[in-house]
Amino acid sequence: MDRISIVGGQPLHGAIPISGAKNAALPLMIASLLTRDTLILDNVPRLADVSLLQRILNNHGVDVMLNGKRPGDTAYQGQTLHLSAAGIVDTKAPYELVSRMRASFWVIGPLVARMGEAKVSLPGGCAIGTRPVDLHIQALQNLGAEIEVDAGYVIARARNGLRGGEIAFPKVTVGGTHTALMAASLAQGTTVIENAAREPEVADVADCLNKMGAKITGAGTSRIVVEGVPQLSGARHTVLPDRIETGTFAIAVAMTGGDVLLEGGRPELLQTALDVLAQAGAEIAATNAGIRVARNGAGIAPVDVATAPFPGFPTDLQAQFMALMTRANGTSRITETIFENRFMHVQELARLGARIQLDGETATIEGPSRLTGAPVMATDLRASVSLVIAALAAEGETMVHRVYHLDRGFERLEDKLSACGAQISRISG
Ligand code: EPZ
Repeated sequence: MDRISIVGGQPLHGAIPISGAKNAALPLMIASLLTRDTLILDNVPRLADVSLLQRILNNHGVDVMLNGKRPGDTAYQGQTLHLSAAGIVDTKAPYELVSRMRASFWVIGPLVARMGEAKVSLPGGCAIGTRPVDLHIQALQNLGAEIEVDAGYVIARARNGLRGGEIAFPKVTVGGTHTALMAASLAQGTTVIENAAREPEVADVADCLNKMGAKITGAGTSRIVVEGVPQLSGARHTVLPDRIETGTFAIAVAMTGGDVLLEGGRPELLQTALDVLAQAGAEIAATNAGIRVARNGAGIAPVDVATAPFPGFPTDLQAQFMALMTRANGTSRITETIFENRFMHVQELARLGARIQLDGETATIEGPSRLTGAPVMATDLRASVSLVIAALAAEGETMVHRVYHLDRGFERLEDKLSACGAQISRISG
């Protein structure tokens, strides 16, 4: 298993190209199940989760063609996927695949909408909490699907097709909103989704579905209206830039000091996080080429934050921000309101010298801590990258184990950081 070695203490200087968003690319790939025509996606990041989803879609009969680098492309240019679900050969998504990547549960919406049935394994818990799928099921039931849960599988049936309906989510759910959108696109009649997730990835998927012929309005707000259509066609769509990758590198620069241009980063996708970073002492400037983040001289100020659905502070940046707060000049509090168990990084940060107290959903971080390198273990994607950020400011060498978690969601992390002066390298095997 690969490890990553980091020797801390170097400020970051230069430019980092931002990749396409993992959390948009995955549902966009799943949307290919809705049509027999070809869906072409540009700017798809090179990630382990994207490769795994290709295999999962293959299993349903989707033909996936990959156009890698073309002459003139840089090493960071995203890949182009051609996905063609002309014939769906299997409407079952087995446990072995769904348990490896939770988002693959989302195939349930398009499969039942187009094929009238789907049998998808319950994903089970994961490192960041229990993560139920009851709201996906409720959404499909509101569109007329009959649901049965048997032997660890959710079986959804709609022999005569889905019907438009009212879906009022009791809680904001990104995945539930994707399921509702995709299923409602092929339902008969109009669907209204209330308390919909406003995340930019939802708006990106809706944008692509509209290019495929769907009739969706209001995506990006909490009320989305979908007028069902009998069928969707192919389209070409470019995945939006990854706001979590952008925020992660912005935090890394705030941590180490220096001056970096996050190429292609779009401030409106992470304004709350950028405001919080500015309060912590980073200088942030929007430019035509992306977002410039700098921190020179002055130390890091403590800032209290609570995670919230978009446009709030994203849960996917909570661990990284906690790493930064270990070096702040004072005490800060971070409250996690989205997932109940997303503090797996706390014990590993403590191994590097952080002082963090947990009390229910709130972590109190006493800064500034002198961080020193140590062997640490990655537990999930965002937790792992928080260890990398802490290691960039630690004295001596940190070895991050189980980096396959990082590879699920960060494209060439070590290359991007080392190009800006970090001492970071991957040790294979
Ligand atoms: C998406 O997960 C993202 N994943 C997550 O990114 C992200 O952390 C999360 O949204 C919140 O922003 C992808 O886009 C692939 P939710 P999702 O449904 O859709 C509860 C990363 O590191 N809930 O918005 O699964 C749930 O338990 C990741 O890239 C139910 O109760 O999250 C949580 O408390 C990890 N019942 C809350 O809602 C349901 O049926 C929000 O979850 C569904 C969710």
